[in-house]
Amino acid sequence: MRLSVNVDHVATIRQARMTDEPDPVWAAAQAELAGASGITVHLRGDRRHIGDRDVEILRKTVAGVFNLEMKASDEMLDIATRIMPDMVTLVPEGEGELTTQGGLDIMAEEGAVRAGVERLRNKGIAVSIFIDPDVVQVGRAKAVGADIVELHTGIYADADDPDDAQCELEKVRVAGIAAAEMGLTAHGGHGLTYRNIQPIAAIGEIDEVSIGHSIIARAVLVGMDLAVREMLALVDVMG
Ligand code: PXP
Repeated sequence: MRLSVNVDHVATIRQARMTDEPDPVWAAAQAELAGASGITVHLRGDRRHIGDRDVEILRKTVAGVFNLEMKASDEMLDIATRIMPDMVTLVPEGEGELTTQGGLDIMAEEGAVRAGVERLRNKGIAVSIFIDPDVVQVGRAKAVGADIVELHTGIYADADDPDDAQCELEKVRVAGIAAAEMGLTAHGGHGLTYRNIQPIAAIGEIDEVSIGHSIIARAVLVGMDLAVREMLALVDVMG
């Protein structure tokens, strides 16, 4: 099981002050030093967290797999084919949404998705499509030429009732098996935390998980002690 660390929310903290820290590029380097197999960022149309500068620098600095999450719009396809990430994950993007709300409904936008996949693959970029864990969507992803499906784990992650969680987990497992049978690589992501990751990690057909919020949230807290001590050392210099 490989881990791609999504560093979007490092940029969210930076953008809260429109300043230059914390830098998602530094966070990406630390994540890779800690063993992450790759780095994911979502370049949104509104540039609310990750910006063009981040994507350009990360392309040069990420040593593992650099995965650019994006909508299949002309603007983003132009950027991706210029920057050349190792992989693109096509996601739906709604205006004003807090985070990606669900998998891409490939049937609803088949023409645009197919054209986007073709354009990216012609450039040698591996293409993943973020979909709900649904065998029909897996089949459409295969039909439009994707290499990878990222199965949406958010419904599983958000389920309060253990039986519901088990049922959602089963959907992810079945979709993962279907992907493998169709010759697609299966990834998983969205809403995964230190508490809910293990049943997903145990699904043999899922090669990689993409995790952002939970890791960045924990990083803030596990770093707090040292950060305060370092500031205190400076404050104490003046007695
Ligand atoms: N995968 C996709 C397609 C996403 O849109 C996101 C959120 O940006 C993630 C994974 C990571 O989700 P989370 O931040 O909840 O770990």
